[in-house]
Amino acid sequence: MSVFFSLRHRRKTAQSAVRRWRHQAVWLMQTLAAAGREVSVVLVDDAEIAALNAAYRHKSGPTNVLSFATLDGEVFPGQTPDELGEIIISLDTARREAVALRQRLDTRMFWLLAHGLLHLLGWDHETSEADAARMRAKELELIAEFAKTRRIYMPKLAINVDHIATIRQARGGQEPDPVTAAALCELAGAMGIVIHLREDRRHIQDRDLHLLRQTVKTKLNLEMGAAREIIAIALEVGPDMVTLVPEKRLELTTEGGLDVAGDKMKLAAVVAQLQGEGIPVSLFIDPEEEQIEAAREIGATFVELHTGKYADAKGTERLFQLAKIETAATLASHLGLLVNAGHGLDYRNTAAIAAIDAIEELSIGHAVISRAAYVGLENAVREMLTMIEKAG
Ligand code: PXP
Repeated sequence: MSVFFSLRHRRKTAQSAVRRWRHQAVWLMQTLAAAGREVSVVLVDDAEIAALNAAYRHKSGPTNVLSFATLDGEVFPGQTPDELGEIIISLDTARREAVALRQRLDTRMFWLLAHGLLHLLGWDHETSEADAARMRAKELELIAEFAKTRRIYMPKLAINVDHIATIRQARGGQEPDPVTAAALCELAGAMGIVIHLREDRRHIQDRDLHLLRQTVKTKLNLEMGAAREIIAIALEVGPDMVTLVPEKRLELTTEGGLDVAGDKMKLAAVVAQLQGEGIPVSLFIDPEEEQIEAAREIGATFVELHTGKYADAKGTERLFQLAKIETAATLASHLGLLVNAGHGLDYRNTAAIAAIDAIEELSIGHAVISRAAYVGLENAVREMLTMIEKAG
């Protein structure tokens, strides 16, 4: 399913607002069982919609929304048979109506998108009073359903507890224990626990993995290099999923994504082996088209987009890196991959990543464990969850 949004309006509109409206349209398409189709949404001003209203409906003045259905069976050059059609919305009228009705602009936009989409799917309110009442009731039902599901659309937060083990290993004792830490993260609302069992065992130990397999109640994601010894352990323990990462002995933390495109044969075999035993595999990659295509080709279930370059960048370079991640996430999701993201995310830079529709889950370690030293682990997790929730 694809929803194409374009903005033809002289007034500036926040990217985050357009993202929310696009997300509403995607939800509507799924809920109205139009998930296999394509729709274009064009946001215009009053002058442009008035011109269209005059040309196609012989009515003068602006209106709020117009729908132009792609006629059944008639496909124009450049169009595909999956296209439902085009929804044109005047942002000027939407804003005026939101003020008059004391609604938030987002609510007004949801109503206009629902109205436009229902028209494209054959609903009509001009045919009879009964049809008008039916369409109105459907719109109200959609608004109520959407209000219920809003939270579901924020990405899940998975906490990487490696650094709890790093502190323990500094003294070679038993405290702090990543198993206890994982339970506290879950109690605070984390939806997953991530650990990296490295070949050098510098932080997480085999004992941690075995105990976490028994105690984690949400989802245990085992990060690992594609080494034979670790693959055997993963197959024996059976985590809920595996994230394959490149692993070098001298690195401080994972540096760069996997070169899936350059190492397809080896990685395809590892993905097949793990997934053959029912363990879904994610590939940690840089947000590059070539890597995403390769991940899809070798049959991975997820990709995890490396957010490290974005996290390290400043100013316009950061915006450029953010756009790269958003483009990559959208492409991966269109190709049928589930999309996670992580590395270097903290309390300042996570919101923009959490606002990307296609991202299912964020994997965060260092920032949350560091903050826990000041405010406690549960508070640190809750603060991160609040940031993610606000961004959604
Ligand atoms: N995702 C992957 C694949 C990683 O290797 C790491 C670091 O262990 C993370 C996410 C978490 O990164 P950070 O500790 O910077 O939040």
